[in-house]
Amino acid sequence: MSTPLTNTAKRLVHGDKAPPCNLVIMGAGGDLTRRLLMPALYNLVRTGLLPDQFSLIGVDRQDLTDEGFRDRLDQAVRSFASEKSYSAEFDETHWKHLLAQVSYVRGDFNDPELYRTLKQRLDGENRDHATSENAIFYLAVASRFFGLVVNHLGQSGLVEEGPERYRRVIIEKPFGNDYESARALNQQILRTLHEDQIYRMDHFLGKETVQNIMVKRFANGIFEPLWNRNHIDHVQITVAETVGVESRAGFYETTGAMRDMVPNHVFQLLALICMEPPNSFCADAIRTEKTKALDAVHVINPQTDIVRGQYRAGSRDGKALKGYREEDGIQPESLTETYVAMKLGVDSWRWSGVPFYLRTGKRMAQRSTEISIEFKRPPFSLFRDTQTEELEPNTLILKLQPDEGASLAFGAKIPGPAIQLGQVHMDFHYKDYFQNAPSTGYETLIYDCMIGDATLFQRADSVEAGWRIVQPYLDLCKEQPDALLEFYPAGGQGPTKADALLETSGRKWRKLS
Ligand SMILES: NC(=O)c1ccc[n+]([C@@H]2O[C@H](COP(=O)([O-])OP(=O)(O)OC[C@H]3O[C@@H](n4cnc5c(N)ncnc54)[C@H](OP(=O)(O)O)[C@@H]3O)[C@@H](O)[C@H]2O)c1
Repeated sequence: MSTPLTNTAKRLVHGDKAPPCNLVIMGAGGDLTRRLLMPALYNLVRTGLLPDQFSLIGVDRQDLTDEGFRDRLDQAVRSFASEKSYSAEFDETHWKHLLAQVSYVRGDFNDPELYRTLKQRLDGENRDHATSENAIFYLAVASRFFGLVVNHLGQSGLVEEGPERYRRVIIEKPFGNDYESARALNQQILRTLHEDQIYRMDHFLGKETVQNIMVKRFANGIFEPLWNRNHIDHVQITVAETVGVESRAGFYETTGAMRDMVPNHVFQLLALICMEPPNSFCADAIRTEKTKALDAVHVINPQTDIVRGQYRAGSRDGKALKGYREEDGIQPESLTETYVAMKLGVDSWRWSGVPFYLRTGKRMAQRSTEISIEFKRPPFSLFRDTQTEELEPNTLILKLQPDEGASLAFGAKIPGPAIQLGQVHMDFHYKDYFQNAPSTGYETLIYDCMIGDATLFQRADSVEAGWRIVQPYLDLCKEQPDALLEFYPAGGQGPTKADALLETSGRKWRKLS
């Protein structure tokens, strides 16, 4: 990873303890803080990456004392630790050390007084605990507040930087809900903040295996020469979940699979596969290449390139599963999609003519996030009297979830006097080689923000490029909410119509089983 220079003029390297700072979590009474941010901070303090001079200020509208807020976090992190059982022993010493650095400010995001109080609190932390003037404002708030909170931060002088102090803002997803709203939000926050102060969060990018795609491609000599239209037949990206809508009905009804997964998570994977090698591992070099890759993706033609689906009742492992419309909080006539599949092309020298097939869905047969790169067959069949043609093509599968690793499928001779071929797999599992560091996916990203490395955060142009690709689909669904909607049984492979996206060219999806 890069070795960014912060404005404290000290060169920071990944793995160094982060420099002193204050972390202000706006919306700290919410689910994200409880379930993901605090466990991530606990993991960071245990691994020695959190600064010694550190303060965490939680902001929310609930009437809580510092002590009451700390009690809540204490319960949340302990239950998370036992649930995940990622450590034999709960690390009391480090956790208590972190908890002692936590305080609470009650206020309303709309109220200018809140920001004056925050300013005084930050000054106090620095004066009393030498936490420095560095501050990160983490907007763990509903997206309607992003612009408003940034405006207030600007008006109150809280995001002014200086030679000895950084001021950064982490913005959660969703960043906009279509191209125009993402652009408008970018314009609004860029009136207050410089691009390099903004850390647009997509926690998917904090996952080890996602970062490893770049390492696989650019730290090894064998893959890159094959990584192009001359050798690759097509690419499939799958993000399949077995869970349904769970407790997120309100959110999901207005969002759906496309907005929830595609312009952000799935396109980030696509960009990592398609991008050209960057000139360096600096944040902007990488982000420029990723945006260029997305800029080259065809805009979706909803009539030919896409299938959307919604799960109906079904079963998995003999267990009955409800349909989406029967789930709590879901409209019985809902037209929200829980699945999308699409075919995309990339207009670049490297990828011209190579189709990219993407699918994501809930209540699928198997939980699986993977990228499968299918290579072209040999130019002519040497083993004529064998069943070479029946062999599956060489495929490199990058597995991101749940069993992280990679697998290469190729043909081999079956032992015996006759020439018979079979398919074999060369498998690599991360867990066999490296110890799994306990992680919520947020550790890397919070730490990266503290050391000023924006590589794994989305830049304004990249967010807009993602929305641009799907905009014609969003327009169609707005005009005609039932357009293209297919149904699929819960626990299955998705709508059968999605198969046609590939079958017309003699290809097929990898089976989820
Ligand atoms: N939770 C996740 O797993 C997850 C995952 C990825 C991204 N995100 C994103 O992270 C952000 C936060 O999510 P969340 O699930 O933590 O949301 P949340 O549970 O609704 O938390 C937001 C907090 O802000 C408080 N709040 C609302 N309006 C306020 C106001 N005017 N002034 C002060 N406080 C106010 C809320 O209080 P009330 O409860 O009283 O309204 C709540 O405690 C969202 O943008 C979400 O999309 C969440």
